[in-house]
Amino acid sequence: MAPTKAILFAGLSLLSEAAAVKLYATHFSGYIAALDLTLSDPTTGSITLAQQVRGCGVTPAWLHLDEETRTLYCFDESWMGSGVLQSYSLGKKNASNAALTLSGSARTPGNTVHGSLYGGKDGKSFIITSEYSPSTISTYKLPLSSSTQQLQKKTFTQARPGPRPDRQDRPHPHAAFTDPSGKFMIVPDLGSDLTRIFKIDTESGMLSDCPAIASLPGDGPRHGLFHKSGSTTRYYSLNEISSSVGVYDVKYPANGSSDCLSLSLAQTIGTYGPNVPLGNATVKAAEIRVAGDYLYASNRNDSTFGKEQDSIAIFKIGKDGALTFVTLANAYGYYPRSFAFNKAGTLVAIGGQTTANIAIVARDPATGLLGKLVANINLSPRGTYGGEDGVSSVVWDE
Ligand SMILES: *[C@@H]1O[C@H](CO)[C@@H](O)[C@H](O)[C@H]1NC(C)=O
Ligand SMILES: *[C@@H]1O[C@H](CO)[C@@H](O)[C@H](O)[C@H]1NC(C)=O
Ligand SMILES: *[C@@H]1O[C@H](CO)[C@@H](O)[C@H](O)[C@H]1NC(C)=O
Ligand SMILES: *[C@@H]1O[C@H](CO)[C@@H](O)[C@H](O)[C@H]1NC(C)=O
Repeated sequence: MAPTKAILFAGLSLLSEAAAVKLYATHFSGYIAALDLTLSDPTTGSITLAQQVRGCGVTPAWLHLDEETRTLYCFDESWMGSGVLQSYSLGKKNASNAALTLSGSARTPGNTVHGSLYGGKDGKSFIITSEYSPSTISTYKLPLSSSTQQLQKKTFTQARPGPRPDRQDRPHPHAAFTDPSGKFMIVPDLGSDLTRIFKIDTESGMLSDCPAIASLPGDGPRHGLFHKSGSTTRYYSLNEISSSVGVYDVKYPANGSSDCLSLSLAQTIGTYGPNVPLGNATVKAAEIRVAGDYLYASNRNDSTFGKEQDSIAIFKIGKDGALTFVTLANAYGYYPRSFAFNKAGTLVAIGGQTTANIAIVARDPATGLLGKLVANINLSPRGTYGGEDGVSSVVWDE
């Protein structure tokens, strides 16, 4: 037995562990994919399918990764009147054999498009989901099991259709996540042109209503995030129907008061820049993310960069939180429903829904610009034009 061989082998496996990064993606056809990204230099690499797990119901739509407990939550958009909410435990970080193992599964009424954790001492004792067409949000106590029951359900109504009646026939809550303090729940409602706000009883997980904040008519808020620039925290709303970002001032209640968090609109800027009218009915903005001092929003169905190559809008965030449009970048896929940055802010993973691909694209942290396609993988089957199929979401695990 030659000792050098064993040493060489150990050295090689250390190398491959250090260079491979895991990502997870959901495919609407009914599986979660674990992907390995290997870089040979910062802008050259390859991405491969490491594991494909059938699960997360019939229409897996969204993932939430809890890095600390190494748990991946998956949300099912099933339109069949019943669905599931599942948790998967993840293998050891960076290990080449990191595996997804189902750890909990609960039945839901389905049609969940988004969800996240909240409440309790650690901010993750409960889970909330938003249901697009039943116009509901639902909460559950963790951990998930076959006997998990809904803790609370809120059903929204609106008096009449919005300015885009084809999309705004009724309330369509599209996401649910907390503010940075973890004391308030934010629910963008695409159908009602509202950002709904709830006060969280962190101990019981119960939500109580706060006044909802109106967007501009026909904005169709879909997703959103809080970001602090200097000492100022702003809320950024990704408006799907008007294809714009709304920048809101955030007003917290005084200490000790039982008041609500409130938002007021300070700026609206289109995802094609200030010179293009809002509300082009053939395009639909989808995801919003921040990396460094830049904000990014994806555009679906614009083919700005050629056939099946939609765009991602880049904005510079000013010291006061205001946005300045920089440019559009190639999303290297059609219908970029989701995208996420790595921690270093040097790469973005873009999930092209219909092309059913994950494109890894280089980002320059100094300029915020997106550039070279570093790696790409197609996850079959491909989606169909305008269909709720293909790749639905992507997250990094690093
Ligand atoms: C895991 O991978 C990340 C990203 O590549 C790296 O920063 C980190 O140092 C790695 N950790 C270990 C324990 O290898
Ligand atoms: C509220 O209290 C916290 C901690 O006691 C403090 O950090 C914060 O600045 C206070 N906020 C206001 C608005 O007074
Ligand atoms: C809407 O967007 C499409 C795709 O980018 C473009 O071809 C079309 O000209 C736009 N329509 C208007 C009215 O701006
Ligand atoms: C995409 O845009 C084209 C026009 O450029 C339009 O005819 C089509 O309906 C749009 N498709 C979807 C799925 O939005």
